[in-house]
Amino acid sequence: MTDNTKALAPKAKATRILRPSRRTVLTGLGAAATLPLLGRFNIVRAQGSPLKVGLMLPYSGTFAQLGENITAAFELLIAQKGGTLGGRALEIIKLDDESNPAKGPENMKRLVDRDMVDVVVGTVHSGVLMGMLQVARESGTLLIIPNAGAGAATGAQCAPNVFRSSFSNWQPAYGCGRIAADAGYKKLAYVTWDYAAGKESAAGFEQGAKEKGAEVVQVLTVPFPETNFQPVLAQLPGLGVDAVGAFYAGGGAVQFVKDYAAAGLKDKLPLIASGFVTDGTLGALGGVADGLVTGLHYADGLDTPTDNAFRAAFKEKAGREADVYAVQGYDAAQLLAVGLEAVQGDFDQTDALHKAIASAKLDSPRGPMTLSPSHNPVHNIYRRVVRDGKNMVDGVAVEALADPGVGCTMT
Ligand code: BEZ
Repeated sequence: MTDNTKALAPKAKATRILRPSRRTVLTGLGAAATLPLLGRFNIVRAQGSPLKVGLMLPYSGTFAQLGENITAAFELLIAQKGGTLGGRALEIIKLDDESNPAKGPENMKRLVDRDMVDVVVGTVHSGVLMGMLQVARESGTLLIIPNAGAGAATGAQCAPNVFRSSFSNWQPAYGCGRIAADAGYKKLAYVTWDYAAGKESAAGFEQGAKEKGAEVVQVLTVPFPETNFQPVLAQLPGLGVDAVGAFYAGGGAVQFVKDYAAAGLKDKLPLIASGFVTDGTLGALGGVADGLVTGLHYADGLDTPTDNAFRAAFKEKAGREADVYAVQGYDAAQLLAVGLEAVQGDFDQTDALHKAIASAKLDSPRGPMTLSPSHNPVHNIYRRVVRDGKNMVDGVAVEALADPGVGCTMT
């Protein structure tokens, strides 16, 4: 478990008497003995003191690189803004969640109750996110999700204080289903890990394909984060399908694409995968991924001034190429910036802060991005092809795609 605390800018000096905020009340409840001295509604807090941001991300395991890129790009945006957002310095606390769903609630509580962060930015794994959501909803802590696509976060469990800078699992997979059907494939199989992100991706792929006249005849899974794909790969040729959809990411995706090619399937059964399979993995894959078609809300070769500037700055900071995870980390910081700038750093203006984030119109490296009423990104899903070690854009599969946000009532 990593726990590095780093101040990005020097502490500002001003202090003032505040009305009780979510954090001061929680703090007050946790430290009841001190309340009589201060008076319940006259708690002294340094409004100019750094805003505490907890980064709850995987820094170990199969998704470690994803967490690192989200972090580097989040810090990049803050550095580009001169170390403050809305005039407020930030203090960052990093916590390695190990992509372990069992520890999700405990880790989130640790940030909220012990470290008393104002904002949590996390996480990557959908199962871990589910445990964080409950704590976020109960405590009212601002939560910005920079990757995990679990539909519930912007569906049945949506909340005024929960925002996503990434995607819902349904979105890229829905785009891939349409890409597969548009290519003329009629019978499809889907392979993935057996957890929320995999299941929701399979459902999105099936819907996208069905709407264009194709059908998914079989979904095959392996437990997360296992990388023994042989039993699944061995079944594919016997299914009578003409293409295969897939969701894997990080280290597991590298193994999957290598094994798919080694099993002789690459030329027989075209793979049309959510772009996480090849994003951030092409260095490790070498030429094995050449020609693969994927769908995602980011691509190489977008060649816009915003994306070109972002990629150059990220490369200079991190010493490696940007990928979709970096974009999502950058946009998590952009959303926080929009909110803090609207309230001039006064984090206690909760309603105004939430309202500003909800109506953000970002000039994202991915292209234009707004949030749906359930606080999920509305963005393009690109068709991409792997060429010369890049996920080159090859058209827009679905323009300005919004997640349906099923079950969301924002109360
Ligand atoms: C997820 O668990 O939601 C997820 C993990 C890695 C990449 C994409 C989605």
